[in-house]
Amino acid sequence: MNPTCLVTGASGFIGRHLLATLTAHGHPVLALLRRPETLPALREQVDALGGHGELLHALAGDLASSGLGLSDSDRRRTGQAAVVFHLGAQFAWRLPVDRARAVNVHGARQIAELAAASGSRLLMVGGFMLHNSTHLRRLGIDTEHPARTDWAGVYRRSGGYEGSKLEAHFLVNRRMRELAGALTCVHPATLCGHSRTGHMLPAQPLAGLIDNLARGRLRAIPGTPAHWLPLVCVDFLAELLRLAAFDPALVGGELLVLDDATPNLAGLLERLARALAVAPPRRYLPLGVLHAILQVPGATQLLRTEPESLHFIQTQRFDTSVTRAFAARQGVPWPDIGAALEATARFVGPAGR
Ligand SMILES: NC(=O)c1ccc[n+]([C@@H]2O[C@H](COP(=O)([O-])OP(=O)(O)OC[C@H]3O[C@@H](n4cnc5c(N)ncnc54)[C@H](OP(=O)(O)O)[C@@H]3O)[C@@H](O)[C@H]2O)c1
Repeated sequence: MNPTCLVTGASGFIGRHLLATLTAHGHPVLALLRRPETLPALREQVDALGGHGELLHALAGDLASSGLGLSDSDRRRTGQAAVVFHLGAQFAWRLPVDRARAVNVHGARQIAELAAASGSRLLMVGGFMLHNSTHLRRLGIDTEHPARTDWAGVYRRSGGYEGSKLEAHFLVNRRMRELAGALTCVHPATLCGHSRTGHMLPAQPLAGLIDNLARGRLRAIPGTPAHWLPLVCVDFLAELLRLAAFDPALVGGELLVLDDATPNLAGLLERLARALAVAPPRRYLPLGVLHAILQVPGATQLLRTEPESLHFIQTQRFDTSVTRAFAARQGVPWPDIGAALEATARFVGPAGR
């Protein structure tokens, strides 16, 4: 039997795929669940994704509760975990800052303290915007001295979800240094579905884009030909998370997991449209104009587009050489992102509903 792992966010999209690969590789998993009564359904979902659901066990807990809401006996069980994977987060556009901080920032701090106290390695899942230094500077984050950052200002500019993910990253790094804990950070791009089956959950940002395209709500391409939405396939990410967590060379390290071969936004919409058998948009709409339109009352509901989501569409390119070298060393091939996009569109689109 391989070492036991603890996973937060186990019922989420990435979480389920991570559970599938961990249990398929013989790791018993303690899943921190707000609703532990959903364990039987989660076991079935993990089986369906190729894992072994019987290796899953539930710990009742809530990231927003003091002491993570764990009972004394469950807290003792957390000490069995060689690795704590922290994926749990509340994701929503227009998330109130208090709620975002309670779950995503203070929850992450509590998980870091739990991992350090148990001598477990912490695998923290952040987000790829942490590698966009221009964007971080624009938001007002002092990456050299994060403690000097005016976080209230950052939240005003970024919104609750993104601000809390950024704050959590810097806070967890600081706490793990103070506690001399072992930390590895993985920063994924926006998630594409499973590379072969296209499996994706409806609340995922890409699923929203596909739905808009399928229903004819996307009449123009946001941005310019240089704009793109970096993606990564969920199964590839889950494999890298598992392997990164047990690689001694990555203690104190980071992986930026995004696929450089993701087409620009126009190409991405074309691949999705082809699979949905709809016409792709051809005209461009500058992001500034789209932002302005979305300020009009009712426009976000009408267009099913949130201004916060536009931050992730950008012209920035990223250095993924460390991740490419890691994937090559581990023998994990990069999936064909174009084929994965089409599979995801078929899974999410009207025919897949
Ligand atoms: N999806 C993306 O495109 C993307 C890209 C970059 C980074 N990420 C990061 O990757 C991680 C996982 O993302 P995902 O897309 O898999 O998320 P998801 O599908 O939205 O799932 C979120 C998970 O967090 C749990 N959770 C929420 N609030 C909680 C609380 N108060 N206490 C305990 N658990 C709570 C949810 O549990 P319930 O079942 O109880 O709701 C669920 O398991 C997140 O940290 C996210 O920020 C995601």
